[in-house]
Amino acid sequence: MLIFINGNRSVGTINKNIYGHFAEHLGRCIYGGLYVGEDSEIPNQNGMRTDVVNALKELDIPVLRWPGGCFADTYHWQDGIGPKSSRKTLINTTWGGVREDNSFGTHEFMELCRQLGCEAYINGNVGTGTVQEMCDWVEYCNMPGVSPMADLRRQNGQDAPWNVKYWGIGNEMWGGGGNMRADYYSDLCRQYASFLRDYDPSHKIYKIASGACDFNYDWTQRVAELTGALVDALSLHYYTIPGSEWEHKGSATKFSREEYYITMYKALQMKGLIENHTARMRQACPNKNLGLVIDEWGTWLDVEEGTNPHFLYQQNAMRDALVAAVNLNIFGDHCDSVVMANIAQTVNVLQAMILTDGPRMLCTPTYHVFHMFKGHQGARQLETYAETALIGADGADCKVPNLHVSASEDHNGNVLVTVVNLSDHSSVPVEIHWDGLSKFTSITGQVLSGDGAGAAAYNTFDNPHQVEPKPLTNITVGTNSFTSLLPACSVATFTLKA
Ligand code: AHR
Repeated sequence: MLIFINGNRSVGTINKNIYGHFAEHLGRCIYGGLYVGEDSEIPNQNGMRTDVVNALKELDIPVLRWPGGCFADTYHWQDGIGPKSSRKTLINTTWGGVREDNSFGTHEFMELCRQLGCEAYINGNVGTGTVQEMCDWVEYCNMPGVSPMADLRRQNGQDAPWNVKYWGIGNEMWGGGGNMRADYYSDLCRQYASFLRDYDPSHKIYKIASGACDFNYDWTQRVAELTGALVDALSLHYYTIPGSEWEHKGSATKFSREEYYITMYKALQMKGLIENHTARMRQACPNKNLGLVIDEWGTWLDVEEGTNPHFLYQQNAMRDALVAAVNLNIFGDHCDSVVMANIAQTVNVLQAMILTDGPRMLCTPTYHVFHMFKGHQGARQLETYAETALIGADGADCKVPNLHVSASEDHNGNVLVTVVNLSDHSSVPVEIHWDGLSKFTSITGQVLSGDGAGAAAYNTFDNPHQVEPKPLTNITVGTNSFTSLLPACSVATFTLKA
């Protein structure tokens, strides 16, 4: 099938923050997954798991959102600062009623970001917090001079301000954040946005209003109309959930062909969602290029058998890898409106990069997609056209294109082409042509596939390397073109070196 890359047309630069992540005080994401504490037998640096941090560093994570999600709207940041022995222990009423000893707080989060080399995105508490509480948090993090909060920060061992740029004003305010109506939330958001200060003109903060979920375009439009002048972006949450009932979202590893195609169909809906939410933002706020921050996305499946249902621990198979790849392609192709995206969630929760079991860890197929695609970060998006066929389970209505493609060019003229073969049983020969690009010295490829196990292939703690990228050896180079063969249900990347 033909794929064409047009080097003369681009919608813009792919913001590296599209490759962002999200870590909440939920299940074993923070505690046990990212943070084990200094006294743990699990090797750690200042409490952060060395194995997990080292693996995540390979992804060049640009930005990490914390502390929630729903948890953010019950979180009082002052509970998580100061000597650990005197921090409040309380109950995480949002996620399973488990003990929260606040040993991971603002300083630990900033230390995690330092170790990962990423920016911090802090989601403030609008649900049960106050404007003053969030203003104090910004002052605590960002004030360079003398002030009550800056002094408190110094007293707690941090002299220099962290200059946290990204601040979320509430989370899912239409639901778990307080069941608010758009107008009521917008007024609150305006009040918060008015008082969240820039403490250093060279480190301006970026304010993100709590946006819609799924197809609630009216929320986006109304909130954009009412808050657009005071914020930089609106968020959007969209999870790929194969099942039609919340109690039966579908198993992560045992699913029918029909469920597989429904999952891919739902993942592909991200494109329409971005376009429609963006159109509503532009209509509401025509004079401002409000950004779209998709700060929760990914697959949401049934929890693994025998695990706490409130911990949202799910396995991660090749099907998840394809969902990630399709979404990242879509985000890149909409980089004129999508300024950030944060997959939910980094470790042990929902569509994770990493799963841990005590001292053991594994990288999921989704992790490998983020690794294979990282060259798109900060690169110039290139327009692509792909010849496709509609495919699906026999007799089922749900059809998807068999190929999904995107491409970008980095500062040195190297081009990255990322291609997904959505067919669960057919390999696809591809012939990739380009125009308007420099001469290339080499073309190499990598492929991630489930081999015999197909879409249901996954890594286990006993066999953690079952699904891993391999070199693609079947590349034949022509003039301004090359051919290759993509295995069924696979994600491939091609690097065209200038
Ligand atoms: O990611 C899990 C939860 O999903 C988040 O806490 C919430 O924002 C969303 O509903």
